[in-house]
Amino acid sequence: MANTTLDLDVYSSTQEPYWLASTKKPEYPTLEKDISVDVAIVGGGMVGITSAYILKNKGLKVAIIEGHRIAQGTTGHTTAKITSQHGLIYDKLITKFGEEKAKQYANANEAAIDFIANLVQEKNIDCDFSRRPAYVYTQRDEYVKKLEKEVEAASKLGLKASYEATVPLPFQVKGAIKFADQAQFHPLKYLYKLAKEIPGDGSYIFELSKVLDIEEGETCKLLTSHGHKVTASQVIIASHFPFYDGFGMYFTKIHVEKSYVLGVKIRDKFPEGMFITAEEPGRSLRSQRYKDSEIILVGGEHHKTGSEIQTNIHYENLAKFAQESFDVQEILYRWSTQDCTTVDGLPYIGHLTSKTPNLFVATGFAKWGMTNSTVAANILADLITQGESPFAPVYDPARINIMAAGPTLVSQNLDVAVKFVSGKISSAPQNLDIKRGEAQVIKVEGGKAGAYRDENDELFVVDITCTHLGCELVWNEAEKTWDCPCHGSRFNYKGENIEGPAFLNLKQIDEGPNKKDPNIF
Ligand code: FES
Repeated sequence: MANTTLDLDVYSSTQEPYWLASTKKPEYPTLEKDISVDVAIVGGGMVGITSAYILKNKGLKVAIIEGHRIAQGTTGHTTAKITSQHGLIYDKLITKFGEEKAKQYANANEAAIDFIANLVQEKNIDCDFSRRPAYVYTQRDEYVKKLEKEVEAASKLGLKASYEATVPLPFQVKGAIKFADQAQFHPLKYLYKLAKEIPGDGSYIFELSKVLDIEEGETCKLLTSHGHKVTASQVIIASHFPFYDGFGMYFTKIHVEKSYVLGVKIRDKFPEGMFITAEEPGRSLRSQRYKDSEIILVGGEHHKTGSEIQTNIHYENLAKFAQESFDVQEILYRWSTQDCTTVDGLPYIGHLTSKTPNLFVATGFAKWGMTNSTVAANILADLITQGESPFAPVYDPARINIMAAGPTLVSQNLDVAVKFVSGKISSAPQNLDIKRGEAQVIKVEGGKAGAYRDENDELFVVDITCTHLGCELVWNEAEKTWDCPCHGSRFNYKGENIEGPAFLNLKQIDEGPNKKDPNIF
């Protein structure tokens, strides 16, 4: 792969997810008064919107409070596969958690596919929903046995899995697993329709309204960026990485990974199915209706957020893979996304901690967010309205005992600790000869700052200390953002926070002592 010459132009593609580029984005108001609801939901992604929709239909008053715009974060950057097939997991789940819990996970995700399918049909949602098989394939001999074991495990749990010697892709494979009756869709067309039904009768959606803190109690108070309070009996934290920890130590139990997607036009018809590799480098493929034809979504190239500066290489690697695999006409879109993964690979869905009976969390979907978000919304709605859910035990956040989590947790924490230390002791270049479109870490008054010169020759200098827990941010050349290697917060080159768990902006340090504090709203 590394030696292939890339003949395609990656960089003239639109740098935006196809989902966002192809949909009229709705706008909801900012919170401008104190309000009171039954359930406050922090975060308007797939978990937030689906939970709000279900809870409102159960007769509760709900409010989604979104810091940016609904469905434009991780939800808007997905590949939107709706599957219970999440790579090679079921054999591991049975070994690690036992057959009963593995079955809960399988059943919860199958139920999520049906939940989406039923809603699409019932509400006649025009969202390109279609049933497709999902394949995991391998091109390496040593994975064939693993695939066979996975088929055995999945079948034991009642999933419609079969072993296949070939897949309908234009290249050779050594073997594959096929899951029947999975699905794909356009996630924003689906979610915007659900969101439309939420406001009214005492329920709300607010955008550009950041929740800064939660005062816990029998009823909780959410303090927001504009100084208004939301009072609620129950709170769902659906902010991707939990912005509020409640002593749940989530910052020690989750790591954040980035991955990349290209929207590619090819000359041939793409086969019916969704595909992913069993081995590294991970490659994900599906088609999507595009005007009167289709585009292919080519995904992969994951790495820990903030671990690399030269991120454009990942788009180029995907383009080379597309070029080698298909007769590519043009690359139309490119985007990256960010996903939370837990220490044991299963999401945390349930009570934030054992001591917070009215605070709930949903996070850690490990790139399988369409079904797991839907699972989360259903579990949390059940816990709030009935106190229990048949799928809750396998997802219970309390299952992670920090002492028992073992080497994975230790290595993740060591990594974070190194980021804190190394961020403070290494020296930074002092040369301010920064070209347009480039960034540098520079020394300023004894500390470090990040400087970026835009295409109009304007220089932006920000303090690159993350406003979450103080790790040093790393430049991301592809997105022109400062990314946190510890828990994945991101800031644009002006220092504005674009992704949590941090919610405060970076300090701008280039305009003298009278500079307005960027976090005074
Ligand atoms: Fe936690 Fe940056 S996101 S320190």
